[in-house]
Amino acid sequence: MSEFRKIKRFKTRSEAGTLAMGERVAEMLAPAPKLIVLRGELGAGKTTLVKGIASALGAAEAADVTSPTFTLVHEYAGQTTRLYHLDLYRLETERELLTLGLDEMAESPDALVLVEWGEKFPSIVARADGEISIEHAGGDERMFEVRVK
Ligand SMILES: Nc1ncnc2c1ncn2[C@@H]1O[C@H](COP(=O)(O)OP(=O)(O)O)[C@@H](O)[C@H]1O
Ligand SMILES: [Mg+2]
Repeated sequence: MSEFRKIKRFKTRSEAGTLAMGERVAEMLAPAPKLIVLRGELGAGKTTLVKGIASALGAAEAADVTSPTFTLVHEYAGQTTRLYHLDLYRLETERELLTLGLDEMAESPDALVLVEWGEKFPSIVARADGEISIEHAGGDERMFEVRVK
């Protein structure tokens, strides 16, 4: 399933490095991709990358972006982009997913929807415009791969 047109890999060596990388990733995702799945185990750096992207988009200060572990969705209004940050770790069924209103979020032309644990749901994978995977590479190093359709 190599349906991705654009693939970029990079490595960071610190949390600050990943925050800074948010700017480059935001550029890679602009303007088209709407719905992006963030893959990687707990503590990989998914939320950290979202902080960097939110900051790059002028949607929120990195420190104000917190994990939507319990609320499932956080929304941040940037100058040109409405950022939705989802964490579906605690969500179990496609039925529960329906109540979140993902369709409405992704339909908005200025939306960027970043979904942690989106790969749990086939309906999200099927409609995703791309994915970013993050893997531990020893110590504070993380390997990133951005894949965009
Ligand atoms: N290179 C790095 N990039 C991102 N986070 C890092 C890095 N090195 C260490 N960390 C730490 O790893 C953790 C990542 O947490 P978080 O972004 O919440 O992960 P996730 O959302 O994938 O569960 C943080 O405690 C952060 O300080
Ligand atoms: Mg997280």
